[in-house]
Amino acid sequence: MFHKILYPTDFSDVSKIAVNYLIQLKDAGAEEVVILHVVDTRNQHMPNIYNAFPELSMLGEKEAISAKKEARQMAEELNNAGIKTIIRIEKGIPFKEILRVEKEEDVSLIVIGSHGTSNVKEMLLGSVSEKVIRKANKPVLVVKRQND
Ligand SMILES: Nc1ncnc2c1ncn2[C@@H]1O[C@H](COP(=O)(O)OP(=O)(O)OP(=O)(O)O)[C@@H](O)[C@H]1O
Ligand SMILES: [Mg+2]
Repeated sequence: MFHKILYPTDFSDVSKIAVNYLIQLKDAGAEEVVILHVVDTRNQHMPNIYNAFPELSMLGEKEAISAKKEARQMAEELNNAGIKTIIRIEKGIPFKEILRVEKEEDVSLIVIGSHGTSNVKEMLLGSVSEKVIRKANKPVLVVKRQND
């Protein structure tokens, strides 16, 4: 039923909890997981600032490289459990890229954390997960943080 799953991750503790659920979803037919990390480029629309601080232009690149490493570790864990993986590192606005990849990869389910790196106590959901839940076409499995 859920043969191809989209797993957007910011590598936060909350989003990592999802990996165990992805493995358990094998019993529900999960064969392949698309691990997606979006490098948020919203703060990178000020080209002039790069003249003063050239190292800033490398920030997105650095994040993409470390994201690839983290994603490979997750992929290995899933592969060991017999699930195929695709790693995608995209640049843009996280919720928009998640919805674009949902269509492009034609997934049957999205597994997302309720919160991410900000993990504000008072918030029911993070802003990325809220928008994805609102706008996604496919079912969304929300993995909750602990201690809620
Ligand atoms: N840049 C990203 N790339 C891929 N997935 C992401 C990204 N950011 C968040 N997610 C996914 O969305 C989930 C919820 O994160 P979200 O960013 O909405 O919460 P937050 O960080 O606590 O709050 P906010 O970002 O609104 O301050 C994460 O667990 C992860 O699954
Ligand atoms: Mg966040």
